[in-house]
Amino acid sequence: MDIRSLFPLLSQTIDGKPLVYLDNAATSQKPQVVIDTVNELHTSLNGNIHRGVHRMAEQCTARYEAARESVRGYINAAKAHEVIFTAGTTAGVNLVAFAFGERYVKAGDEILVTEMEHHSNIVPWQLLCERKGAALKALPFADNGELRVDMLPSMISKKTKLLAVAQVSNVLGTINPVDEICRIAHALGVPVLVDGAQGVQHGPVDVQQMGCDFYAFSGHKIYGPTGIGALYAKEEYLNEMPPYQGGGDMIKAVTFAKATYADLPYKFEAGTANYIGAIGLGAAIEFSKSISPSAIRLHEEELLRCATERLQSIGGLTIYGNAPRKSGIVSFAFKNIHHLDIAQVLDKQGIAVRSGTLCAEPTMQRYGLTGMVRASFAYYNTLGEVHALAEGLEKAKSILS
Ligand code: ALA
Repeated sequence: MDIRSLFPLLSQTIDGKPLVYLDNAATSQKPQVVIDTVNELHTSLNGNIHRGVHRMAEQCTARYEAARESVRGYINAAKAHEVIFTAGTTAGVNLVAFAFGERYVKAGDEILVTEMEHHSNIVPWQLLCERKGAALKALPFADNGELRVDMLPSMISKKTKLLAVAQVSNVLGTINPVDEICRIAHALGVPVLVDGAQGVQHGPVDVQQMGCDFYAFSGHKIYGPTGIGALYAKEEYLNEMPPYQGGGDMIKAVTFAKATYADLPYKFEAGTANYIGAIGLGAAIEFSKSISPSAIRLHEEELLRCATERLQSIGGLTIYGNAPRKSGIVSFAFKNIHHLDIAQVLDKQGIAVRSGTLCAEPTMQRYGLTGMVRASFAYYNTLGEVHALAEGLEKAKSILS
């Protein structure tokens, strides 16, 4: 299969140069099947779900629920109603931070995150801690980008109410041992939220095997539309947690005295859902399944090996994140050249990377940096593009030095 031909955007040129898209950790490009699915709904099949009895409403409802089933199967959740559609990873984490926090967190408690988290897995917990008078703690990582899992038991106490950890660091590329982390935390009575934003698109996910209590991810990073994602949560928590938002579709009955809430998962899906996005996400998940998550992982590992080898040999460039288990992310900085300048010179060569704090300022602070450049890979990237990056960086260095 010529994978690149399935992604129309990839064949374009930038200032006459072929696009080399290496910003997949920020967002992935979309295969034709996802574009067609979303277009089809906008052009010929649009009816608000769970409300109308007309056939378009019923067909959209059926396809929305089929998309939920696709997500359930992909992450191996035990039950479809443990999958809540959200606007993305950030929305999923905020949902848990609010609803779990309301039910289980009080003054004096602690929430544990790690030092390598994205802001979206830090700030919602800070807001919760401020609301409740709780404290936020962070598990450190070693210089090579490995989490100090050995320190985990000593950082968990009776006050710890939840541990939130990235499956894969969006800066360092570290694949965290989330199964082991869940085992340790559970043995000490602490539930775990796994931020799957950088994990779900790179290989098979099995939330039951992982043992996590919550798992959040975004659709746009796994070849789906923006503004849609999913939160997996164990039924026992969803039953106990209060709704995050109130509105239509999340109620059973409403009087001015009181509202009763809809069954799962609808209790957590207030208002008109992004059903077109969800159906597009379903198409993206089916597309990913058709490639096979293991094939995705193998190919991206090859890209990572090649990129690491080529970039390590560029003088003055330091790669941050050298953990033994790494995903297709290479973040780096040049001595004496600003990360933004590097990214801009690469852009002029048609090479798209990300630069800056990468939404992870504590990780930058850990290394005493103001920012990095990040190249991140998807299944459709090629070794040729990795070589183009290395050559582009040599050129940028010679222009900017
Ligand atoms: N979370 C995305 C990134 O790391 C936007 O680039």
